[in-house]
Amino acid sequence: MRISGNTIFIAGGTSGIGLALAQRLQNAGNTVVIGGRRTDVLDRLAAEHGFGAATIDISDPASVVSARDAVLAAHPDLNVLIAMAGIMVAEDVTKADFLEVAERTIDTNVLGPVRLISAFSEHLQARPDATIVTVSSGLAHTPLRLTPSYNASKAFIHQFTESIRLQFAGTSVQVIELVPPALRTELMPGQSQVEAFLPLDDYVDETMSLLASRPAATEILVERVKPLRFSEVNGAYEQAIAMVNSH
Ligand SMILES: NC(=O)c1ccc[n+]([C@@H]2O[C@H](COP(=O)([O-])OP(=O)(O)OC[C@H]3O[C@@H](n4cnc5c(N)ncnc54)[C@H](OP(=O)(O)O)[C@@H]3O)[C@@H](O)[C@H]2O)c1
Repeated sequence: MRISGNTIFIAGGTSGIGLALAQRLQNAGNTVVIGGRRTDVLDRLAAEHGFGAATIDISDPASVVSARDAVLAAHPDLNVLIAMAGIMVAEDVTKADFLEVAERTIDTNVLGPVRLISAFSEHLQARPDATIVTVSSGLAHTPLRLTPSYNASKAFIHQFTESIRLQFAGTSVQVIELVPPALRTELMPGQSQVEAFLPLDDYVDETMSLLASRPAATEILVERVKPLRFSEVNGAYEQAIAMVNSH
């Protein structure tokens, strides 16, 4: 992916990694459109930073299509989709409320990115230098006890990304997977206060530098995520599970 001169839609750009990347990418010379459910936050961020903005709920198929139409009407030169939006909710498979969380997680984290890619695929293939960026997690490879459906949703994203890259080969569309480690955002309540987690700015610095230095990258792996990403390959799976579940 080239690092400047793009027009980028970040679905899930109202907070956390998406917002931090939106600012860095705009500073690097890209036009950035952010998306999310919270229209008031979108309006404030658009006014403060000069981003484009689109209301979107990726758990609602009709919302994804109407947001796509609005974004492309305003930005017909859009060439990068970042499917950032996601939720992480604790669940306990031994308790009765497990199914609600599991269904919500799969609807948002699995079907949401699939809906986004489906909505933008035709347009992106008609653009030169197009990129789809997906967002998985180190937990796709090493499970956190608290969040079975979340871990599995990110494993889906990893394998889906690997697979669609094969299908987009020979088109103008590059497919890149961000694989963040645990970061200080508010993905889960209180997570931004956990000192053991990587500060968001450090993550975005390293990510921007990897994107700039490796334009043909398939996965963006910051150093902190490698023990989780490669735990099985390294024969350190049990130790990695113990480490992840020690917090
Ligand atoms: N932070 C970490 O430790 C970590 C680690 C690995 C992977 N990740 C992944 O990174 C991504 C961003 O997480 P984050 O840490 O930046 O969390 P965050 O601050 O909670 O941001 C989540 C973003 O997703 C949007 N969103 C959530 N549900 C949505 C929906 N149904 N439709 C549209 N937008 C929706 C939110 O916007 P609205 O609320 O305005 O809709 C927000 O912009 C997620 O996919 C997460 O799984 C995070």
